[in-house]
Amino acid sequence: KENPNQALFEIHTQASRVYHMILTSTELGQEAKKYLYDRGIDDEIINRFGIGLAPDEPNVLYKSLANKFEEKVLSESGLFTFTENNIYDSFQNRIMFPLMNEYGQVIAFSGRIWQENQINRKEAKYKNSTTTPIFNKSYELYNLNIAKPLINKSKEVYLMEGFMDVIAAYRVGITNVVATMGTSLTENHVSKLSRLAKSFVLLYDGDKAGQNATYKSLNLLRGKQVQIVTVPDRLDPDEYEKQYPGALKNLMTQGRISEVEFLIDYLKPDNLTSLQEQTNFLDQMIPLIANVASLTAQDAYIKKLSETVKDFDYQSIENQVNRLRPNN
Ligand code: GTP
Ligand code: MN
Ligand code: MN
Ligand code: MN
Ligand code: MN
Repeated sequence: KENPNQALFEIHTQASRVYHMILTSTELGQEAKKYLYDRGIDDEIINRFGIGLAPDEPNVLYKSLANKFEEKVLSESGLFTFTENNIYDSFQNRIMFPLMNEYGQVIAFSGRIWQENQINRKEAKYKNSTTTPIFNKSYELYNLNIAKPLINKSKEVYLMEGFMDVIAAYRVGITNVVATMGTSLTENHVSKLSRLAKSFVLLYDGDKAGQNATYKSLNLLRGKQVQIVTVPDRLDPDEYEKQYPGALKNLMTQGRISEVEFLIDYLKPDNLTSLQEQTNFLDQMIPLIANVASLTAQDAYIKKLSETVKDFDYQSIENQVNRLRPNN
């Protein structure tokens, strides 16, 4: 018996072929490719990630697929928008990133604006497929189909925010990388990845939003082995490699810090002058440090804390940590 979703997978596969063809062999595609080349995305990457282009026209995709699929499939796919008198392509004039499930089947798209006039009109930068019987963004991770064997082999996965960040990592040779689809990490994502990975590296954007997202993800990953990479200058991983060519690989492999180190930076108030502020901060940090298994690491954290909090020295912080150590 045929899988009831088979036609939905099929229409997405065919749509991605149409979009890819439009990018690689039309006039408008030439222009869109210039945008991609400027961002460091070459033909090899365009093919590897199946990148395409939704043309700047109302229903090119509809015309090419309408007679091949039943009305129900066309409408369930979310690829088309039905109004009273017309049917439009849901994605128009956007660079199209197909999203595959972990088995490599195309299940959705994310489309990015790329022309100056779209940017001036302040259209949403990315537009995602709606939820369908084959796509729920709280379950799916961009690039998991490619990354899966490498995560399984290295037992480690990098979590990023954006498609362009995953592609930047791929370009520097790191492929055990996935991204959420512009949504926060969920329990579903974590349990899916936990089947493959023992260790997680959070590599979100270096801006405030990225740091907040890191903090939220740490709560979801409680009890797992986690490291964090903070991208300098508030850049995201893709922008960082562009600004400092060759630096991303080193940052990803050598620039990792532990959860406690991240929290010392993240939870530290801007102002630490009053005794009240210092004790509040220490009261948050000390239980975390006391729970770290390695005494060497505890020692390093206590040093770092004592340098941050001027009215408490190493000895007084260590005394408090000792009081809270398990088995004490
Ligand atoms: P680039 O500008 O192409 O480098 O994208 P980015 O990945 O750096 O975007 P950003 O850091 O702003 O956002 C991270 C992720 O959030 C993106 O990869 C998207 O998945 C998602 N996102 C960003 N903007 C939008 C938006 O306007 N709408 C939706 N639905 N998602 C968005
Ligand atoms: Mn191709
Ligand atoms: Mn961002
Ligand atoms: Mn970003
Ligand atoms: Mn970016």
